[in-house]
Amino acid sequence: MKTFYITTPLYYINAKPHLGHAYTTIVADCLSRYKEMQGFEVRFLTGTDEHGQNIERAAAARGITPSDLADQNSEEFRRLWSRYGIEYTHFIRTSEARHYRAASEVFRRVQQNGFIYKGEYSGWYCISDNLFAPESELPPNCEVCGRQTERVTEESYFFKLSEFQQKLLDFYEKTPDLSISRTSVKWGVPVPADAQHVIYVWFDALVGYLTGIGFGDPEDDREFRKFWPAQIHLVGKDIIRFHTVYWPAFLMAAGLQVPHKVFAHGWWLKDEAKMSKSRGNVVDPNLLLEHFGGDAVRYFLMREIPLGLDGTFSYDAVLQRANSDLANDYGNLVSRTLTLISKNFNQAIPYPSAIEGRTPQDNELEGAALATVNVYQQHMEELALSKALESVWELLAKTNRYLNESSPWSLTEDLAQRPRLATILYTSAEVIRIATVLLAPFLPESSKLVWKQLGLPSVLKSQRIAELKWGGLPVGGILGEVAPVFPRFDKKEVLNKLLDAEAKLSAPVRPELTPPTAAAATLQTLDPERVSPTPGASKISIEDLGKIDLRVGQVITAERVKGADKLLKLMVDLGTETRQILAGVARFYSPEALVGRKIIVVANLEPRKLRGLESNGMLLAASVGEDDRPVLAGFLEEVPNGAKLR
Ligand code: MSP
Repeated sequence: MKTFYITTPLYYINAKPHLGHAYTTIVADCLSRYKEMQGFEVRFLTGTDEHGQNIERAAAARGITPSDLADQNSEEFRRLWSRYGIEYTHFIRTSEARHYRAASEVFRRVQQNGFIYKGEYSGWYCISDNLFAPESELPPNCEVCGRQTERVTEESYFFKLSEFQQKLLDFYEKTPDLSISRTSVKWGVPVPADAQHVIYVWFDALVGYLTGIGFGDPEDDREFRKFWPAQIHLVGKDIIRFHTVYWPAFLMAAGLQVPHKVFAHGWWLKDEAKMSKSRGNVVDPNLLLEHFGGDAVRYFLMREIPLGLDGTFSYDAVLQRANSDLANDYGNLVSRTLTLISKNFNQAIPYPSAIEGRTPQDNELEGAALATVNVYQQHMEELALSKALESVWELLAKTNRYLNESSPWSLTEDLAQRPRLATILYTSAEVIRIATVLLAPFLPESSKLVWKQLGLPSVLKSQRIAELKWGGLPVGGILGEVAPVFPRFDKKEVLNKLLDAEAKLSAPVRPELTPPTAAAATLQTLDPERVSPTPGASKISIEDLGKIDLRVGQVITAERVKGADKLLKLMVDLGTETRQILAGVARFYSPEALVGRKIIVVANLEPRKLRGLESNGMLLAASVGEDDRPVLAGFLEEVPNGAKLR
């Protein structure tokens, strides 16, 4: 049997899944179901990318361990996939022991082959995207998320990316070598024989595509040998470079085969920006599911934008698709055809005579159905999923027109018209059968319901698309119970409900920076002997406000204070001077998590001594939840150290 291996990115678990993650995974599910219906033996891998500083920080901000955070959020991903009918065959978590084994093995192979050396890395690094930025004097913004990068200087292992120049594309002729280990992060796969370092999170995560199907399993790596290299790594366009430059080079260096194809799709936008947790403009896929059901959302996502382009999300557009395409075009065709058969032929599929009561229109529709099977397959092979759906909808529209024109409901009383009535209804039902097979990869739940209503005993998933022929619907077959499959939504009512539900949901802007509910948060100064601001305290004048000197600072060093488990001693760059500040955040932020970070400092506070150490200023943070967890205030844009806040 031919094999097909498809992967989605392994998603970061610093936050819950949003619609963007669901999108990629649904595309992969549709393709994998399609390939299965083409007779391939399919492996479909998804999973979670759990290491790195970003996750360490997100966990610290919640006061839990990275591994607890990973457990919670990885489970959220799995639960969501099952609610959307996503049938992956493999799920890999990069914190699993089998993955540590595989990632170290690939690292070791690359090292043995002479492509890794030890040096010192000093450069700008984005901890959110785990991406190195080009050298420059001032910290550049990350090219993916736009956030400011941080200076990282540490001993590191380097991967000789330059060695693959010839084998890879011209455009990275001058690419310097790539730092592939970190010493400032602990949460990761240790470098073989040098546990001071952990493997760079992208090196680690990409290897997940191998681990998931058994690479490095000493007992049994048959799956790996059978399914690697993957046919498609499906990714968003944000991570093309890692998949098309680093990944093939890592694989070549380890002596492993490179994937056949990396396909990058576009982004879902909301309010004209890429939907992302850090922008706070995400749509909750669970909320959509509760209001529309999994299939309607799947259909909307696959149909609304061509794979590869960006698209703007709106509830209105989902409603439109659900009502007009699903309830009207498909649902209505099914229900009127099957109801007429039920009523007039005692629930049995009628016999379509080849001669009596046959018209050119019947032949035309038959031809259109078979042509659609071909066109659909061509589009699917090119990953043009929305076009494949369009072709099915053209067929459904033709069939609805055919019914309207041949008007079977007006023939029911006339016995002489029985053969004509039988032919019309058979033709329409047979188109429904064919369309339903084609829609099965996209609408796994509802297509099964239609299949049952058609009375077909076979398993829908086992149908072979390439073998679809006219006449597969058995004459005399008894229909199942006919009932509406797709609900029609009242636009106003659903929109109101959605907006209500959205307002109730907490939507933190940036997991490690923002409180679960904005309303529950107040601003606090991170004075270790903090006096909480009293809600409703009397108002102050603008002059009073002017007395507070608030400035942008950057943490240069951070360390714990012996004997004080809440305190961190920070050296903070205020542009014109460096200050020592003691902050009561040690239970929520590790010292590593703060180094490089831009903060807001109350600069004109009288110096005080704490535990024998001088503290010269205070940090600002939101105070969150019952345990008053501090969440440091910061900036999304670039700001120079020392800038005044007013
Ligand atoms: N952990 C890395 C991937 C490692 S793969 C070995 C990562 N994770 S992520 O959680 O940030 O997921 C990024 C992916 O989620 C994108 O490449 C894309 O597949 C999907 N999307 C995230 N936001 C999206 C949109 N707004 N729109 C469409 N897809 C989006 O990067």
